[in-house]
Parts: sequence; structure tokens; C-alpha cells
Amino acid sequence: MNGKRAAGRKAVEEVKDGMTIGLGTGSTVYYFLEALAEKVADGFHMTGVATSQKTIDLAHQWNIPMQPLNAVKTIDITIDGADEVDASLNGIKGGGGALLYEKLVAKASKRRIWIVDNSKKVEQLGAFPLPVEVVPFGWKQIETYLEEKGAQPQLRRGDDNEPYITDAKHYILDLHLPSITDPHALADELDHLTGVVEHGLFLNMTDKVIIGYPDGQTETLAK
Ligand code: A5P
Repeated sequence: MNGKRAAGRKAVEEVKDGMTIGLGTGSTVYYFLEALAEKVADGFHMTGVATSQKTIDLAHQWNIPMQPLNAVKTIDITIDGADEVDASLNGIKGGGGALLYEKLVAKASKRRIWIVDNSKKVEQLGAFPLPVEVVPFGWKQIETYLEEKGAQPQLRRGDDNEPYITDAKHYILDLHLPSITDPHALADELDHLTGVVEHGLFLNMTDKVIIGYPDGQTETLAK
């Protein structure tokens, strides 16, 4: 068993019959969805709200009942992955490009749980490039501004070398920062930058982190 699978399968213990469940995105969430689909096949009732087209496609493939975010009042719990998580349970997300929808679903959720393998635990955020979702119109201006700030932005590209396009039809600039010493100040700055739609700093946005280890064990960090 790998750590991602261990964390993903452990997270199904958090969901209860009748819940509306936010479904994150990524290779760790894949294992959660697989385990959830097994429960649904056994008669478990739930409604899923996806954070990306990739997750919608998987959910449909596995007969997990889904509703769009606009069709639900509230979400009981969201299970999502993360790219980095520190000891204060702050994190970086968006490696898979779904940060905007992930943040919207997280904000609509009463409880939020991240599932990660042990490689994602860090002392300080920032070794993982910080995704910043920007509008395509004028993205170069934002890139220049961030370059001058020393944030080393890099336009994310797809396999075809064309700019990567998010589900919401935006671009992503990945910031190769030397380090993130004050995540709150950086988040505040990015929140106020015209043309930035969202960024991958998820601060105070999870209640619990389930960490999976290669031997199949899991560890839980909670606030
Ligand atoms: C998607 O945009 C991300 O926020 C993912 O949740 C994150 O990249 C974790 O992905 P993996 O589980 O694939 O590592």
C-alpha cells in the first residue's frame, strides 16, 4: 500500500450516511473516491460536489451521485488533497490546477479534511511552487510584477506546451519563491492583485489532516 492510498481509504471513516460531501482533486483523492464508490455500491446514500472536471468524470465512472455546487445549500464535509502542509495545518494546493474550485468548495463546507502522504509534511511552506490562477487577459503584466518582486513566476504549460487552462478557463503562474516566511502576508498581497483570481495558499482552511505512510499506517493531525 502506498501512503496516498492509506490516507484516501482512511478518510471514508469520516463520512456518514446522507451527507453532502465535497470531493477534492488529485491522485490521493482518487483512492478516497474508489473507497467511497465501494460504499455507494453497498447502499450508502450521499451527494457529491466535485472540485474539478476530472473528479466529476471519475465520480460518474464510479456511479457516485453528484450535484453542482450551485445546487446545494451547504456541504457537510470535504475531503481533498494538498501539495504541502505545515505544523499549523496551513497548506499549498493547486498542483493539479483545481485551486479555485477547491477553495470555493472548501469555503462552503462545515468540515474539511486533507489527505496526504508523508512526503507532503513540511516545516515551512514554499518548496512546492505556489500556483496563482490569473485571467489570460494581461497575464504578462502580472508575471512582470511578480518577477520584479522576486517571486520567479512561471506560466504553467500543458503537454502540448500551450498554456495550461483551468476548468474556469484561466492560466496558472507557478511561483518559485525562495521561501514563504509569512504566508498570511503573501496571501493578503495576492488577494489584492488585480487579475489574480485565486492562489494556492490555503490558510486556516482545514480541520484535520490524515497522513498516510508507505507501510499503510496513518497519522491524524487536528486543530
Ligand atoms: C489539485 O489542484 C490539488 O490541490 C491537489 O489537491 C493536490 O495537488 C494534491 O494532489 P495529489 O493528491 O495528486 O498529490
